[in-house]
Amino acid sequence: METRILRQNQMNDVLQDLHLDGVVAFPTDTVYGLAVKLSSPTAILKLTQAKNRPLDKPYPVLVSSLEQIESLAQLTHRDRQLIKQWMPGSVTFVFKKNPQIQSGYFAESETIAFRCPTDIWIKELLDKVMEPLLLTSANISGDPACVTSDEVIKHLSRKIDCVIEGHAGGGIPSTIIDASHLDLQVIRKGEVSMNDILKTSNTVALACDHGAYPHKEAIKARLLELGYIVEDFGTKDGAAVDYPDTVYPAAKSVSEGKNTWGIVLCGTGIGASITANKVKGIRCALVFDQETARITREHNDSNILALGGRLTDVQTAVKIAEIWLSSPFSNDERHIRRINKVKDIENKEKTGE
Ligand code: RB5
Repeated sequence: METRILRQNQMNDVLQDLHLDGVVAFPTDTVYGLAVKLSSPTAILKLTQAKNRPLDKPYPVLVSSLEQIESLAQLTHRDRQLIKQWMPGSVTFVFKKNPQIQSGYFAESETIAFRCPTDIWIKELLDKVMEPLLLTSANISGDPACVTSDEVIKHLSRKIDCVIEGHAGGGIPSTIIDASHLDLQVIRKGEVSMNDILKTSNTVALACDHGAYPHKEAIKARLLELGYIVEDFGTKDGAAVDYPDTVYPAAKSVSEGKNTWGIVLCGTGIGASITANKVKGIRCALVFDQETARITREHNDSNILALGGRLTDVQTAVKIAEIWLSSPFSNDERHIRRINKVKDIENKEKTGE
């Protein structure tokens, strides 16, 4: 097979190679990558042979949007926040596979690794090819990854269909994080440190009115002690304030991915929960005991907790907050289905359909 050397402006040729079950090489923000279409078993086999890679070692998927990840993975609230904060970027996340995927390349897999690069040319390629690609580093398995097109040609010429001329980014491969369990784990160290990722996944937005000020202060002190990063949206003392003024910005910060979790409080917790639930993507649970704190995480993947300062004592509120934050979502199919139905309602209401 002849390996064509192409320029970036020859994207149509690259697309043609991909559609004809080809293996293409291009520079990424880290090292040179080799890509094939996820839907092409012929191309996947060709890639595996070119790299001399074990057949049972799965490839990561190259995606350009959250929607593409959602179509293949079963994401929790925490996972979506990680995606919002770190993708595109030089982090590869391993997520649980969407159990509905029962055929094709990932039929037997329990997890899938996803990468979303910053490079505009690659994003355009993904948009034009209109399906996720499998992406791996350009090298013979076990050798260092190539960073220039010359190196790719030297090692992979005649084994792949084309290579885009150029030079890859920093040469440091992406950090790989296993996010398929409650605790995140580093699989491969890279440019982004685990500490930075943990810092952004353990952030809590706090907000209250005068009806729960001591509760908010006590929860804040305990969370700081436990290592959480807290953003305090007020109120800053016991003087009367309107709960929407503090709760809305806190809920918005969770919806936008600036904070992973939110805890909002007022006298009964009702006003705070109503306010938070007006914000897109928020599932706020008003909780009065430890049992429902755990259940709402397991069943609803709630991302904001509401508490009532006049109905729950300070000590109980702190305990509920701790339990809620440390309880995982069950990931059960029936709960995912129900949460998706709630999301559909939210979308319909927004567009007025
Ligand atoms: C404030 O007095 C009170 O209305 C508020 O804290 C809350 O209970 C509203 O739902």
